[in-house]
Amino acid sequence: MSKPLSRTGSAALAVLVALSGLSVAASGAAAAPTGRPSPGGQSAGDSLFPAAGNTGYDVLHYGIRLRYARSTGRVSATTAVTARATHPLSRFSLDLQGLHVAKVFVDGRAGRFSRHDDKLVVTPARPVSGRFTATVRYGGKPVTHIDPDGTQEGWIPTSDGGATVVAEPLGAMTWFPDNNTPRDKATFDARIDVPSALAVAGNGDLVSRRRHGSRTTWHWSQRHQMATYLAMISMGRYRVYRSTMRSVTGRHLPVWSFVARKYGSLAPARALVPRVVRFEERRFGPYPFTSTGIVVQDLGVGYALETQNRPTFDGPPSVLGLVHELAHQWYGDSVTLRRWTDIWLHEGFASYAEDLWTAAHGGPSTAAAFRARYRAHPASSSLWDQAPARFRDPALLFSSAAYVRGGMTLQVLRERVGTPAFFTILRRWAARHRDGNGTTGQFRRLAEQVSGQDLGALFHDWLYVPARPDGY
Ligand code: ARG
Ligand code: ZN
Repeated sequence: MSKPLSRTGSAALAVLVALSGLSVAASGAAAAPTGRPSPGGQSAGDSLFPAAGNTGYDVLHYGIRLRYARSTGRVSATTAVTARATHPLSRFSLDLQGLHVAKVFVDGRAGRFSRHDDKLVVTPARPVSGRFTATVRYGGKPVTHIDPDGTQEGWIPTSDGGATVVAEPLGAMTWFPDNNTPRDKATFDARIDVPSALAVAGNGDLVSRRRHGSRTTWHWSQRHQMATYLAMISMGRYRVYRSTMRSVTGRHLPVWSFVARKYGSLAPARALVPRVVRFEERRFGPYPFTSTGIVVQDLGVGYALETQNRPTFDGPPSVLGLVHELAHQWYGDSVTLRRWTDIWLHEGFASYAEDLWTAAHGGPSTAAAFRARYRAHPASSSLWDQAPARFRDPALLFSSAAYVRGGMTLQVLRERVGTPAFFTILRRWAARHRDGNGTTGQFRRLAEQVSGQDLGALFHDWLYVPARPDGY
C-alpha cells in the first residue's frame, strides 16, 4: 500500500504571491549589518542541488501579480520580493528559469541585471542593507522544469487551456523569481488575472475574486511561512467547492476544492478531506494552517504534491493519496527540511501516515505492515542500496528509500520508545518547528529527549547506511 510515488493523480496549481518573512534573518541579523558592501552568494549550499538558492538575504514576502493569456499560454507578471539583507549587498541573485525579464527595481530605483543559467543577478543602483524590495517585471511562456529523475515539474500546461504549478524541488523558478531553497520560507500574496472561464486555486486564503470585463483576478494570501516549492497556482476549468470544516480543536476551517470538470464532483474524495484532517490532528496535533481542500487536475506528471493548504492531485485521489498529501501539511509543509537529503522527514512521515490510516480502517497493524515489508525486501533488494538521509544522487530524491525505508524507520522508532512516547515525539516535532525547518539531527535529539534513550545506533543503521539493518 505504500508506494514510492504517491500518484493520486491530478493537477492543481495555484499561483501565489507575495510573501514575506523569514525567520533566520529576523533574529540572526539583529545587529545592523555593517562593513563594505559585497555580492551575495549564488548557492544555498544544498549538496543535491548546488545551483539552487542564494545567500546574502532572507526573503520575508513574495508579492506575485500574474496575468495569464489563455490563447497563447503566455504570462505577464510582476513579483515583488521583500527581503532582509544579512550583510550590505552590492549585488544579489534570484533563481529564475526561462521567461523574459523586462525590468528590475530595487526599492523603486531601476537596477541593472543579467541572466546566467537559472540566475537573475541584480545590481542595485546603490547597495542595499536591511530590508529591501526587489521588483521584477517579466513575462513570456513559462517552461516546464525537468528533474534529474526525468519527471516534469514547475509550470505544467493542461488540456483545458489552463496551467498548474507543482514545483518540488525546483520548479518554483519557472514562474516567479525567488530564493529557491526550502530554508528560506516566506509569506506570499498571489494575484492571478485570468479569463473568467478559468478558476484559480492557490495557497492559503482567498482574499478576493474580482471581475473586470471578461477577466477575473483571484487574490490568494498565504500568512504562514511557506517554502517556494509548495507555492501553487492552478488555473483551469474547475468546479469550485467551498465549505467549512470543524477541526478537532473546534476551529472552523474553510475548505476550498477545485475539481477539473472531466472528473465530475468527486464528492466521496472531497468528503474525506475533513475526516482525514481530523484523523491526522488526533495523531499529529492541531492542523497547522488556516484552510484546506484539494486540487484535482489532469496533469500527466504521474504524482501528487502537498502544495500548502491544498494538495494537488494528478487525477482523482485515492484514499491513501489523500492521507499522504494531507499528512505532509504537518511534515513537509509546516515543518520543512533544511537540506534535501533529509527528504525522509517528509516522505517517510507521510508514508507512515498511510499505514496509520490503514491500521485504523481494518487493515494490518503498522507493526505487521513493517514486518511484511522487511521480509519482502531481503538484504539483496535495491531498497537497501540507498541510505535515506545520505543521498548523493538527486535522481533518488523520490525513491523508495525515502518513502518505504523512511516510513519503516518510524515504526522501528515506535517499537523502541513505545507508542505513547512515539506520538509525543511526532506532535512535539510538529509543534516545535511549526512554520519552520528541521533536520534529522534535531529530530533524533528530540526523540532522545522524550524517550530518555540513546537512539544513535537506530538512526545510524536506518538512515545512514546503505544496507538492510539486521535483526528485525
Ligand atoms: N512530494 C510528492 C509526494 O507527495 C512527490 C513529488 C514528486 N516530484 C517530482 N518532481 N517527481 O510524494
Ligand atoms: Zn509525499
